[in-house]
Amino acid sequence: MPQPKKDAADSVRFVIVAGKGGVGKTTVSAAQALAYAHKGKRVLIVMCNAKERISAMFGSEPVGSTVSLVAENVWAVNIDPNVALEEYGMMTLKSRSLYKLLFDNNYTRSFFRAVPGMQEWTMLGKAWWHTTEERADGLPKYDVVILDAPATGHGLDMLRVPKVILDVVPPGLLRRDAERAWKLFQDPKTCNVIIVTLPEELPVTESIELCTALERELLLPIGKIVVNCMLPPLFSKAERAVLEGERGGADADLGAKPAAALAAGKDRAIRERVQAEALHRLSEGIKVKTCFLPQLFGDAATPGAVRDLAKRL
Ligand SMILES: Nc1ncnc2c1ncn2[C@@H]1O[C@H](COP(=O)(O)OP(=O)(O)O)[C@@H](O)[C@H]1O
Ligand SMILES: [Mg+2]
Repeated sequence: MPQPKKDAADSVRFVIVAGKGGVGKTTVSAAQALAYAHKGKRVLIVMCNAKERISAMFGSEPVGSTVSLVAENVWAVNIDPNVALEEYGMMTLKSRSLYKLLFDNNYTRSFFRAVPGMQEWTMLGKAWWHTTEERADGLPKYDVVILDAPATGHGLDMLRVPKVILDVVPPGLLRRDAERAWKLFQDPKTCNVIIVTLPEELPVTESIELCTALERELLLPIGKIVVNCMLPPLFSKAERAVLEGERGGADADLGAKPAAALAAGKDRAIRERVQAEALHRLSEGIKVKTCFLPQLFGDAATPGAVRDLAKRL
């Protein structure tokens, strides 16, 4: 009997949500997690020492440095690099007293903080490690781990670390984990990067740069671009030009209300033009599947809003 065709996305274990600060990475991480959970997957969202906002998005208890359930089939954790370093030390040394001897003093702590990439690796490595966790029956504890990565520059620095470890660190536990993580990250069957952006000039420029770094330097598979906060266009190009040419009714014989309405129309026309130009540049600069999320009116950090966005992913 022919087997039902397996969706390529079914084998994905690790998703990296990347982009400029403030574009909606955490919102998209939450919505993408729900979208997976709706397909019956068990999902863990990993944040990197972030200002915790995910609990508002799920209406859950605040999320700290231990994994907690935030919705059906969705867990979340906010990694504290110091706690992660301790856990990593414990895992590799397998002894609390040895760990305490080595790590539990300011000298070693500040030494480790000063090693380039160590802080990034404790977070990225821990996020990856969650993909290796198993339940009692031997099945993975989480089907998919979603990494809500730090903003572009820091995010890229973080993603460079495993490669650096492979280049410079001699064989041993650290290198073995970095090798396994890097293999999983580079395989489009098991990992993909979601680039989040806004339909505006600077975010688009950063996304094109990010995309280039991922494709040419790091060789990490990009799954899709999510253009967040899209305005549904109200005006045609010709109408925009007319509105943008208006001087706001200052010398037209308009009352206060029509003048205010005209000013609002002009603002909107400008935003729509900026959006159209940004989307054009994005499509010229990046050839990747693109998905659009609307600008929501009202607070987007609510369970209702995140459910709405999840349906569109
Ligand atoms: N589609 C949207 N519509 C309206 N507001 C949004 C949307 N996506 C995100 N936001 C809001 O924008 C702000 C930044 O989003 P956030 O996900 O925290 O960004 P990041 O994690 O990239 O810094 C938050 O206040 C969030 O609620
Ligand atoms: Mg965030």
